[in-house]
Amino acid sequence: MILCKMKIQIEILLLLLLLIIFPRIISAKSVIEPCNSSDSCNALLSYLLPWDSKLSEIASRFQVNVNDILASNSLDPSISFPENQILPSDSLLKIPIPCPCVDGIRRSVSTNYTVRAADTLDSISAGYARLVSAEQIKIINGIDDKHQLMNGMSIVIPLPCTCFNNSSNGITVVYMSYVVQEGESLSSIGATYSATVTELEAVNGLSQTVIDPGDVLAVPIPACSSANLDWYNESLIVPNGSYALTANNCIKCGCGMNDLDLRCSPSGIGTSCSHLQCKATNLFIGDIHMDRTPGGCNVTKCIYRGHFGRKIFSSLSNSSQIQCSGNHSVLTPRGSPPPTLHGSVIPLTNAPVSPPLASNLSAPTVVTAPSKKSDNNSSDGGSFRDASCLFLSGLVLLVSFAHLLSK
Ligand SMILES: *[C@@H]1O[C@H](CO)[C@@H](O)[C@H](O)[C@H]1NC(C)=O
Ligand SMILES: *[C@@H]1O[C@H](CO)[C@@H](O)[C@H](O)[C@H]1NC(C)=O
Ligand SMILES: *[C@@H]1O[C@H](CO)[C@@H](O)[C@H](O)[C@H]1NC(C)=O
Ligand SMILES: *[C@@H]1O[C@H](CO)[C@@H](O)[C@H](O)[C@H]1NC(C)=O
Ligand SMILES: *[C@@H]1O[C@H](CO)[C@@H](O)[C@H](O)[C@H]1NC(C)=O
Ligand SMILES: *[C@@H]1O[C@H](CO)[C@@H](O)[C@H](O)[C@H]1NC(C)=O
Ligand SMILES: *[C@@H]1O[C@H](CO)[C@@H](O)[C@H](O)[C@H]1NC(C)=O
Ligand SMILES: *[C@@H]1O[C@H](CO)[C@@H](O)[C@H](O)[C@H]1NC(C)=O
Ligand SMILES: *[C@@H]1O[C@H](CO)[C@@H](O)[C@H](O)[C@H]1NC(C)=O
Ligand SMILES: *[C@@H]1O[C@H](CO)[C@@H](O)[C@H](O)[C@H]1NC(C)=O
Ligand SMILES: *[C@@H]1O[C@H](CO)[C@@H](O)[C@H](O)[C@H]1NC(C)=O
Ligand SMILES: *[C@@H]1O[C@H](CO)[C@@H](O)[C@H](O)[C@H]1NC(C)=O
Repeated sequence: MILCKMKIQIEILLLLLLLIIFPRIISAKSVIEPCNSSDSCNALLSYLLPWDSKLSEIASRFQVNVNDILASNSLDPSISFPENQILPSDSLLKIPIPCPCVDGIRRSVSTNYTVRAADTLDSISAGYARLVSAEQIKIINGIDDKHQLMNGMSIVIPLPCTCFNNSSNGITVVYMSYVVQEGESLSSIGATYSATVTELEAVNGLSQTVIDPGDVLAVPIPACSSANLDWYNESLIVPNGSYALTANNCIKCGCGMNDLDLRCSPSGIGTSCSHLQCKATNLFIGDIHMDRTPGGCNVTKCIYRGHFGRKIFSSLSNSSQIQCSGNHSVLTPRGSPPPTLHGSVIPLTNAPVSPPLASNLSAPTVVTAPSKKSDNNSSDGGSFRDASCLFLSGLVLLVSFAHLLSK
C-alpha cells in the first residue's frame, strides 16, 4: 500500500512536470453524447455569474428570453420589468437552451456573440463561466493567426448539452451542464441536485469518482412530464425546480410539491386567456373540489389537457379517496398562484437597492470537501483499492501519455 502510494505520487509529479512543459495538453473533461437523429430536447446550463449582470444582459448573452430564465429558476413571472433586475456575481442561475444534434454530437450552437474591442478568447470563455473553453470557441470559429478576433465580429458560442433520451435510470429527466468548482465532489454535487454518485458516474462515463474544477458534468434533474396525461397536440417536460408557461403564457405547469406529477393552472400573466374553466362547472384549471361522502371523499379536479392555437382544452376528473384533506369543501380560488407548484418562488422586486432575487439561489454551492479517503473503512473498500493500486498507477501514466499523443 505504502509502496503504491509512493509510486502514484511519483507519477503525479511526472504528470505535473508534463503539464508544465506542455501547458495546453490536458483540458477539462466533458461528456460527449453522440447522436444521429434530428430530434432535440430542452437542456439547462448552470451559470455561475462571473460578474454582476442585469437579467436582460444575461438573456442576451445566451440569446434566450428573460421569461424563460425566470421560469427555469422558478422566479415569479408576474413582476414588472424583471429584465432590469440586477443579479450579483456568483449567483447560480439555470439557463434553458435547446439541445439539437449537430455534426453527430449533442451541442447547442444557437448562441452568437458579438466581439468587443477588449475581448480575448479567454475573456469570452470567462463571460460564459467556462461552460465553453477558449479552445472550443477558437476551433468552431476558425480563429487563428490569419483570422483573429475583431471588434464587432459575430462568433458562435458552442454550449455543452445532453439529452440521453430525456431519461436517466428509467425516470424522465432534463440534463443540466454543470461546471465543477474548486472543492466540489460528485457527492456534493449529487446532494445538491438529488442525484447519486453512481448515477453521475454512469451518465458522465466516469470510471472513478475523481473530478476536477473546470470539468463540465451532465447532471440529470428529475422532471415531470405530460407523457401519460393524454394532452392534445402538446407535450411538456418540466424539470423539478422550474415551471413552464404554455398555451400562449396562459397556463403555468410545474412538478407537484412532493412528487413528479405535472400540475397546471392559470398563470395569471397571459393576455386574453379564455377557456380556463371546465365546462358546466365553476372550476377553473388547477382547481380541486372535495365533497365529504359517507365512504370518504369525492374529489373533482379540473385539469389542463393541452391547447391548439388559442383554444385551451380541459377536462374534469373524478376520484374518491378515503379522507378529505383539510375542510369539508375546499375550492381553491381561481387564478390564484398555483399552490401545487413547489419550490421557493422568490419574489422579484423592482426595489432599486440590492437584496437581489437570487440571494439564496446564489450560494455558490458551498461544498464540504470530500472527506479524503479514510484508508480504513471507506465505502469503496480498502482491499479493492489495494488490488486496483497497480492498475491505477498504470492508468495515470497511460492517461498522461494519451493526452500527449492526442495533441
Ligand atoms: C442511431 O443511434 C442509435 C443509438 O443512439 C442506434 O441504436 C441506431 O442504430 C442509430 N441509427 C443509425 C441509422 O445510425
Ligand atoms: C450566428 O452566426 C452564424 C454565423 O456567424 C449565422 O449563420 C447565424 O445565423 C447566426 N445566428 C443568429 C441567431 O444570429
Ligand atoms: C427513449 O425513451 C422512450 C420512452 O421514454 C423509449 O420508448 C425508447 O425506447 C427510448 N429510446 C432509446 C434509444 O433508448
Ligand atoms: C425529449 O422529449 C421531447 C418532448 O417530449 C421530445 O419532443 C424529444 O423528441 C425528446 N428528445 C429526445 C432526444 O429524446
Ligand atoms: C392537432 O394538430 C393538427 C395539426 O397539426 C390539427 O389538424 C388537429 O386538429 C389538432 N388536434 C386537436 C385535437 O387540436
Ligand atoms: C361520489 O362519486 C361517485 C362517482 O365517482 C358518485 O357515484 C357519488 O354519487 C359521489 N358522491 C357524492 C356524495 O357526490
Ligand atoms: C364527475 O362528477 C361531476 C359531478 O361532481 C359530474 O358532473 C361529472 O359528469 C363526473 N365526470 C365523470 C367523468 O365522471
Ligand atoms: C376549515 O374551515 C373553517 C371555517 O369553515 C376555518 O375556520 C378553518 O380554518 C378551516 N381549516 C382549514 C384547515 O382550512
Ligand atoms: C424537487 O425539488 C424540491 C426542492 O426544490 C425537493 O425538495 C424535492 O425533493 C425534489 N424532488 C425530486 C423528486 O427530486
Ligand atoms: C439566505 O441564506 C442566508 C445564509 O446564507 C440566510 O441567513 C438567510 O436566512 C437565507 N434567506 C432565505 C430567504 O432563505
Ligand atoms: C484508520 O486506521 C489507522 C491505522 O491504519 C488508524 O490510526 C486510524 O485511527 C483509523 N481511523 C479510524 C477512523 O478508524
Ligand atoms: C471497519 O470495518 C470492520 C469490519 O469490516 C468493523 O468491525 C469496524 O467496526 C469498522 N470500523 C469503523 C470505524 O467503521
